[in-house]
Amino acid sequence: QPTYLKDYVPYPFEVERLDLEFDLEPHHTRVLSRARYKRKEHVDVEEPLRLNGAGQTLLSLSLDGTPLTALDYRCQDSGLVLPNVPNAFELTVVTEIDPEANKALEGLYLSSGNFCTQCEAQGFRRITYFPDRPDVMTRYTTTIRADKQRFPVLLSNGNLVEQCDLDDGRHLTRWEDPFFKPSYLFALVAGDLVCQEDAFTTMSGREVLLQIYVEARNADKCDHAMLSLKKAMAWDEQRFGFEYDLDRFMIVAVDDFNMGAMENKGLNVFNSKYVLARPETATDDDFLNIESVVGHEYFHNWTGNRITCRDWFQLSLKEGLTVFRDQEFSADMNSAAVKRIEEVRILQSHQFAEDSGPMAHPVRPESYVEINNFYTMTVYSKGAELIRMMQTLLGRDGFMAGIRLYVQRHDGQAVTTDDFVAAMEDASGVDLDQFRRWYSQAGTPVIHVEQHYDGERQQLTLDVTQSCPATPGQPDKQPFHIPLRLALLGPDGTPQPLHLVNESGQQGAEELVLSVTAARQKFCFEQVGEGCVVSLLRDFSAPVKLTMNTSRDELAFLMAHDNDAFNRWNASQRLAGGLLLDLVDRVRKGQKLILEPMFVEAFRTSLLDEQTDPSLLALALALPLESFLAEQMEEIDPQAIFTAREFVRHEVAVQLKDDFLTVYRRCADSGPYEVTPQAVGQRRLKNLCLGYLAALAPQDNMIWQMILEQFSTGRNMTDVSAALGLLADHDNRDSRHALDTFYATWKEDPLVVEKWLGIQARSRREDCLEQVERLMGTPAFNLHNPNKVRSLIGVFCQGNSVRFHAADGSGYDFLRRQVALIDPFNPQIAARLVAPLLRWPRYDDTRSALMKQALEQLQAKTTLSADLYEMVSKGLDQN
Ligand code: ARG
Ligand code: ZN
Repeated sequence: QPTYLKDYVPYPFEVERLDLEFDLEPHHTRVLSRARYKRKEHVDVEEPLRLNGAGQTLLSLSLDGTPLTALDYRCQDSGLVLPNVPNAFELTVVTEIDPEANKALEGLYLSSGNFCTQCEAQGFRRITYFPDRPDVMTRYTTTIRADKQRFPVLLSNGNLVEQCDLDDGRHLTRWEDPFFKPSYLFALVAGDLVCQEDAFTTMSGREVLLQIYVEARNADKCDHAMLSLKKAMAWDEQRFGFEYDLDRFMIVAVDDFNMGAMENKGLNVFNSKYVLARPETATDDDFLNIESVVGHEYFHNWTGNRITCRDWFQLSLKEGLTVFRDQEFSADMNSAAVKRIEEVRILQSHQFAEDSGPMAHPVRPESYVEINNFYTMTVYSKGAELIRMMQTLLGRDGFMAGIRLYVQRHDGQAVTTDDFVAAMEDASGVDLDQFRRWYSQAGTPVIHVEQHYDGERQQLTLDVTQSCPATPGQPDKQPFHIPLRLALLGPDGTPQPLHLVNESGQQGAEELVLSVTAARQKFCFEQVGEGCVVSLLRDFSAPVKLTMNTSRDELAFLMAHDNDAFNRWNASQRLAGGLLLDLVDRVRKGQKLILEPMFVEAFRTSLLDEQTDPSLLALALALPLESFLAEQMEEIDPQAIFTAREFVRHEVAVQLKDDFLTVYRRCADSGPYEVTPQAVGQRRLKNLCLGYLAALAPQDNMIWQMILEQFSTGRNMTDVSAALGLLADHDNRDSRHALDTFYATWKEDPLVVEKWLGIQARSRREDCLEQVERLMGTPAFNLHNPNKVRSLIGVFCQGNSVRFHAADGSGYDFLRRQVALIDPFNPQIAARLVAPLLRWPRYDDTRSALMKQALEQLQAKTTLSADLYEMVSKGLDQN
């Protein structure tokens, strides 16, 4: 029962206002909703009023004050239908819901005894009967009544307009949100929370109250999130001219949350993982993620809330754009190059995999069974790449003119990705007609470049071809409009002036963006000296797979000399990737493994480089991810990938042991903990060295003691958890003791316990699955908490490829059982968890058959949620 983009029809009624009243009781919450509906012009008078609604008991219904009887409406599974309604009327609906029993974490539910909501995408219909679609926008007033002792804090969107005690031990607050919004941005929070306050003065001089609400035990972990929020508010004014628009901005941290966070108007609700941090409990990456997620949700206020989506097919309108904005924010706050590399690394390993699997879909999908399955890497990260490409094609100024026009045209509206592109086009005069294919065609384009150098003529020709593999429902693709950023590097690494043959206009620039638009296209450069090396797809100017006839020597040259930091990293990955794939091949053929000396030398040069940002070095020296290598193999062999990677890790450690020790000691912890690029980089490089050295332990006792030492004396979670992760790869007295001590220290802190679970789920130990199953039976685990599920089950199945893909199928069977257990109460989590099984066609016959069998067993279950059903059936629908 898919929903199709082509079937979109506007809602026949306007909603002029919505008043909500909540009487909160964990098991019996009463919701009164009073809405003014008005039939739109030209809409047939016969057109019934249809309201979405599910999972609630209808107590009463009245129209303009007159109670309706069962003859006046139909109450169906999916909502209410009122066949005869006047052109304008007020509808009052009273329903009852059971938040305590809500384990799907969609709608109104309880987390650690506090009420909270998650309405995106379609959770509002679990609260009351309403047109729960993003193109129905209205003004909300929310009244909340609850027991004052148990729920001293009562929050909703907008401005607080009334607060009083009631005579029966309860109290009341009333909130008014002056902005029109769709139902998915509604939020309510009620509980026993403490709040950290601060203030921000906007560029036009308005004072905004900032509040972060958390449970009392977390009161000391909010500083970083608050700082991030203030930075984000200032940055959005400077970079985009976007100013905050309400008197207060609130963030609430909750432990039970399906996703990262939610941008509800004026009242963001966060997974506590993206709010709470202290150096002793959170890693550098946690600190950086908090900054980026706080920024992301805040940035939605303009890109998502003020201007929202017409329908859910347009999800990338807000998500792609807002991810792009949070990426730019993080780049400006930290190191732009490091940020870019991290983004691309995720994109290449995870989004490319999505694009080549059964769930492949365009950035603007054409259909879905369950919209929650489309909060994907494609919609988010590839969507952000499309925005970035437009900025590249239009230039920063043209792009900003496009943004201004977009806001001027559409503030207060629910629009489409096409409206966004049209604003970009109209403001800049650049034709984006062909570019729009990026929104409608799925799959990762493949670009192949053949370079030919004619020394006599001093000409370099690039012969560029593009293609895109078929994806479900899209056998043939039209060429994309691909911005290809390039430079030519002279033998000493300096960029050479570029002269394109037959090109009028500006010549002699050191960097160019070529517009690739045809299936095959040639670009010819003149005045090109001997020994130049092409640096292509600089800063990853398009989300494509690039292949080129580049030699290993050229790659080594780029790795050492390219002045584009991204391309330096990319060269290192291509070099290491090529080498590793050769080794994987040798493993499979049972041949002897040898590591090329040139690789070790290139590695040593980078390792001993004291000029470059240590974060960049750590990225360049990290071996390509297993998932990145897998993505490039015809038939994935997880065991061979693991063996080849471990071989290289061990061999490099043997040959460069002294260098690793030197750099490790040079980067040793000194001074107070700071999250500056320099300090973070030092820790990354240090822990990278330790990671390689660990390949020699525990046999090498000196190294083993070093790891133990870092574990027990480390003064921050970054260092301690890095060491614990290395210890946990082995099963001995020391490692057991370390794991036990760590747990004993942190068992009251769920976020740290998640790390402890994740470390064990990622362990290289052969009996890893046994350990995971054992941990599931301990108090450290809770199947109802998504973070715990992700850190134990999710990490094992998605982050420990060699153990999950055990040839006996035990990993698949384990996943099948967990998915079957979780689906009945939390379909969103079950559907996400099942993803690795969908990749079955990529594996050898034995694994393939076992994975498929696990999917078939799931399909045979009589009651499958729509979420899981869509994933499983698309998974089985291949070939
Ligand atoms: N809009 C949120 C964000 O990306 C994501 C919430 C999605 N939740 C869901 N259940 N699909 O910032
Ligand atoms: Zn978002």
